[in-house]
Amino acid sequence: MITVRGIQELISQITAMKKDLSKPGVTVGFVPTMGFLHEGHASLMKQARNKTDIVVLSIFVNPIQFGPNEDFESYPRDEKRDLAVAEKEGVDIVFIPSVEEMYPQPTKTTIQVSGLTERLCGASRPGHFDGVTTVVAKLFNIVQPDFAFFGMKDAQQVAVLTQMVNDLNMPVTIVPCPIMRETDGLALSSRNVYLSAEERSQALSLSRSLSVAQKASEEREDITISELRNLVISEITKSPAAVIDYVEVLTFPGLQPLAEEQQLEQIQEDVIVALAVKFGKTRLIDNHRLKKVEVLSRV
Ligand code: PAF
Repeated sequence: MITVRGIQELISQITAMKKDLSKPGVTVGFVPTMGFLHEGHASLMKQARNKTDIVVLSIFVNPIQFGPNEDFESYPRDEKRDLAVAEKEGVDIVFIPSVEEMYPQPTKTTIQVSGLTERLCGASRPGHFDGVTTVVAKLFNIVQPDFAFFGMKDAQQVAVLTQMVNDLNMPVTIVPCPIMRETDGLALSSRNVYLSAEERSQALSLSRSLSVAQKASEEREDITISELRNLVISEITKSPAAVIDYVEVLTFPGLQPLAEEQQLEQIQEDVIVALAVKFGKTRLIDNHRLKKVEVLSRV
C-alpha cells in the first residue's frame, strides 16, 4: 500500500499502477472518507476491492463542509490506525492531502445541487452539501475513478452526489453501500466516539424507531406517512436525552416530501425514513429505506 500526500504524486501513482497491470480496461475504485475509519468504511473498501482493480482511499477532513460552529477542529483523527485499517482491507493507494494541498487558495468555484440540499441535513447545516459536492468533484477530477463507494447512512449525500454526477456527466458510477451497524443496532459513525455511555445507550432508540417503522409498514399496507412518522417520533422520544432535529418520510433518491395522509402502498417510488437527533452535543443521523434502489447512476 502506498501513502501519498500530493495531488501530482497521486496522479502519477495511479497512472503507473494502471500501466503495471498491463491489461485493457483497468478500473479504479475510490472510497472518499474523512478518516477515523470504522467497519462502515471497511465495508466500502471491501466492495471497492471486490469490484475494481485499483482501490484508492482518501482521508481528508474537508473544512468547507463544516459550519462555523461545527466540529471541524475537534473531528476525530487517527492516521496511524486508519492506515492499518486500509492496509488490512487491501487498499492500493491512500491519499492524505493537507488543507493547503486541496485548497491552495480559497475556492471561488462551488458546486451546488439545488432541490435536494435544502431539506434534512441541508436545512440544519447550511452550506454543508456545497462543501461536500465541491470537494468530491475535486477528488473525482484528481482520482478519475470508475466507481465511487458511499455509505447509505448519509442517504442524502448519496442522492446529492448521484444527482451531481448525472447532471455534470461525470464518468463515474456512484455505488451506494448498506448502512453498517453495531450488534445492538447503532449505525456506525466516526462521531459515535463523542457519546457518553448513557447517551450511547439512549441513542439506540434511533435504530429501534426505524425497525418499528419497518414492522408497521409490513403489518399494515394502508399505513399513512403521518402514522409512520409519528411511530418513529414516539419511539425516539422514549429516550429523554433525545432532541429531534428532523424525522422525515420522503421519496428516494428524489427526497420529495410526501403528503401526510398518503398511504405507503400508494406511493410508486422508493420511500425513505430519515432522521437526525441530538444526544448531548452529538448529532446523529440514521435512515431506513422501505424499498430498495439498486443502481442510482450511470453515465
Ligand atoms: O462522507 C464523508 O465522509 C464526506 O462527506 C466525504 C464524502 C468524504 C466528503 O468530504
